[in-house]
Amino acid sequence: MNIRFMQLQAHGDERGALIALEEGVNVPFTVRRVYYMFDTKPGVRRGLHAHRNLRQVVVAVRGSCRFLLDDGHEQIQVLLDHPAQGILLESMVWREMYDFSEDCVLMVLADTPFDESDYIRDKEEFIAEAQKLRPV
Ligand code: TYD
Repeated sequence: MNIRFMQLQAHGDERGALIALEEGVNVPFTVRRVYYMFDTKPGVRRGLHAHRNLRQVVVAVRGSCRFLLDDGHEQIQVLLDHPAQGILLESMVWREMYDFSEDCVLMVLADTPFDESDYIRDKEEFIAEAQKLRPV
């Protein structure tokens, strides 16, 4: 699976906690875009796409949600429920996010500006492209 789990170091004292995301330290790319999802309604599934080239780091900075990740060969399910947990999603990973807590804020760091042509939004097309890139 072309992903990596990240345990982010929290700097904390009696006042509270702080986590830094920094290129070359815990983010392996230059961040060109940050976006965040929030107010996701109950029962909603988001994502449902893969990217041909984009690299991303995702962190649930508040609340929790689950990911279904599929690289065309295997599928895993992951729960993000703490701001010190991150996932590095490399390219060509199908992702679906679900079970959002009401307070979930899911932050995404990305290595390119928004580019709709980089998306694969059809699961069968994704599986075909992924298996062509890396045959079984
Ligand atoms: P979408 O990819 O459908 O998000 P999700 O599947 O997680 O709900 O994006 C929702 C809308 O936001 C869509 O109209 C595209 C737009 N968008 C941007 O303008 N910039 C961005 O960086 C992203 C990720 C989405």
